[in-house]
Amino acid sequence: MSALRGQFSSRFGFVMAAAGSAVGIGNLVGFPVMASKNGGAAFLFVYLLCIVFICFPIMMAEVAMGRAAQSSPVGAFGSLANGSRFWRKVGGLAIVTPFMISVFYTVITVWIGIYALQSLLGNLDQLARPEAFGEIVSSPSIFVYAVPLMALVFFILAGGVKDGIERSVRILMPALILLLVLLVAFVLTLDNALAGLRFFLVPDFSKISSGVINAAVNHGFFSLSLGMGIMITYGSYLNRRESIVNSAGTACGLDTVISIFAGLLLIPAVFAVNPLVQGSELTDSSIGMMFSYMPSVLLSLQDYVGYFGASVVASLFFLLIFFAALTSLVSITEIPIAWFIDEKRVPRRAAIGWLVILQGVFVVMAILSFGISGFFTQFVHYGGMDKSFFDLILDVFYETILPLIGFTVCLFCCYRWRLHAMSREIAQGAPGFEGSLLQRYLALTLGTLIPVMLLAVFASNVSRLYFSHNLFGF
Ligand code: PHE
Repeated sequence: MSALRGQFSSRFGFVMAAAGSAVGIGNLVGFPVMASKNGGAAFLFVYLLCIVFICFPIMMAEVAMGRAAQSSPVGAFGSLANGSRFWRKVGGLAIVTPFMISVFYTVITVWIGIYALQSLLGNLDQLARPEAFGEIVSSPSIFVYAVPLMALVFFILAGGVKDGIERSVRILMPALILLLVLLVAFVLTLDNALAGLRFFLVPDFSKISSGVINAAVNHGFFSLSLGMGIMITYGSYLNRRESIVNSAGTACGLDTVISIFAGLLLIPAVFAVNPLVQGSELTDSSIGMMFSYMPSVLLSLQDYVGYFGASVVASLFFLLIFFAALTSLVSITEIPIAWFIDEKRVPRRAAIGWLVILQGVFVVMAILSFGISGFFTQFVHYGGMDKSFFDLILDVFYETILPLIGFTVCLFCCYRWRLHAMSREIAQGAPGFEGSLLQRYLALTLGTLIPVMLLAVFASNVSRLYFSHNLFGF
């Protein structure tokens, strides 16, 4: 192993880092809204099937690739395909994509930080005004908040794999879980919370359609940070003595349990202040939910616990999301850094220096996309709409290329790297894997069912985003 590369100190370190990456806005806000709109426990059931039968196998494949090649995506695709230029290019896509995602995720994390800070300062009433979000995102003061956030992320990453990433998640993840449990316990004591619980947990199988299944695969894939090169890179930091099956399984389990808990928090809170709310009134977008809808819900909690109490709950709520977003942001920013270290052979500090400059430039352009600059706000036009630079990154990289990378990972492992080589890597640290049911399942589906499902997600996203057409009626 190159002296430049780091390693997690244990399986626990890997699991916390992988879960830290996976648990993000998608879990805490996206999942509860999606579940309550699409049949409650029926959606949960479909989602669990997607996690177990589609996402967990891809996570194992990605981790195995990284660990076998001891490299971030470009090197992993390249060396496992005997230096093929084509596959190195595919690996390049798994570097550019996380970089672009890190740009828009930085911007969203800055907003979350501002909401947490303003709630703490007692300004929840200001945040709950309908115009607040528009004012905040279009104010040049965002730059003032972006600098310390980026400094924090790069400070963590400067510590390296063990003393930076792993150490930060060892603190932040338990804190996140504690905050979540505390908030759920509080919300469930409110009147009408049970109505929310019923709304979230009573299954309505009539809502399940091909569109919903497609959305569940899509969401599971994002939620587990797949297709972003993260699990390939983190896999390269996992010791060969550790079991990939158990590590990936625990990370998937933790991610899913946290999503379910987030549902127990968000939906009962909404019902506690508005018992007659209809699923259709909840916004589809996580951003709308988090920044426009939730502040007014949190403010209404003052009927129960007074303004001070509501401000405390709001501060904890936004702090919870901030921790989740921070650990995801750290993980995604590590990928281009690992590329610099692996491919350009530079020390971590130099890699970080490069990334500060590159990410800084793109983050500025993304921040300018919310009205500060007309050029970046109306950057392109497609799908019948003007789109900003920020929207463009979100649509192209997050919604379009991610499932495509997942698709290529499956095909790569089956038809280029080969299943027996992948199985051999997985079996190191998991001796029972060879000949197991799981191995046979992977052999059967990683080159067939799973890529087909991802291709369907890709096709549906492309047709919705660029042609305003719903392929699966969703
Ligand atoms: N898995 C994250 C979520 O659920 C998504 C994400 C991870 C985004 C890492 C960026 C970086 O929100």
